[in-house]
Amino acid sequence: MVVSRLALLGVRLLKEPRLAHKANGVGTLWIGHKLIDQFHMSQNIFTNGPFSHYGHALSKLCFSSAASGSVAEGDNEMEEKITVTFVDKDGDEKVIKVPVGMSMLEAAHENDIELEGACEASLACSTCHVIVMDVNYYNKLEDPTDEENDMLDLAFGLTETSRLGCQIVAKPELDGIRLALPAATRNFAVDGYVPKPH
Ligand code: FES
Repeated sequence: MVVSRLALLGVRLLKEPRLAHKANGVGTLWIGHKLIDQFHMSQNIFTNGPFSHYGHALSKLCFSSAASGSVAEGDNEMEEKITVTFVDKDGDEKVIKVPVGMSMLEAAHENDIELEGACEASLACSTCHVIVMDVNYYNKLEDPTDEENDMLDLAFGLTETSRLGCQIVAKPELDGIRLALPAATRNFAVDGYVPKPH
């Protein structure tokens, strides 16, 4: 019965191709509503008809897998990722995928890249210092805060495009960014370095 209803719908679409070819507007909406109606009718037949005992189990299996498929697709869409390349002090490159919204420090730690992050992103060190290798990407970053600039002043091997890795957050415009790890880091809390007063 279900099959015959779906088959009838298919025949109708084939007979009226103009409905299927309308990319926008009422035609597409009509087809969408019809398909949704058929979906619900089919589900009711399974669960309320004479075979309801078996139908409930079958319906759960068929329709829940259809629904979970769309949720999984939604998750994938939400988990947008960008490509980031880390270049270590020896010039070796590691290309990773970073979810939008994740900081470069977190991404480095998740991928076993040696970026320290001694203060765990509380802007109290400069051990997460990275150098943005392309100025075009550097210009796409949010401006550093005063606190970040203060910490960068303490960083070993500071450059014009230096940033703190914990303050760079992945966003779609940064897809393809390349970050160099400096040859050394300076952690005044450990090395005994005392910052000069401003
Ligand atoms: Fe300390 Fe980024 S981890 S400032």
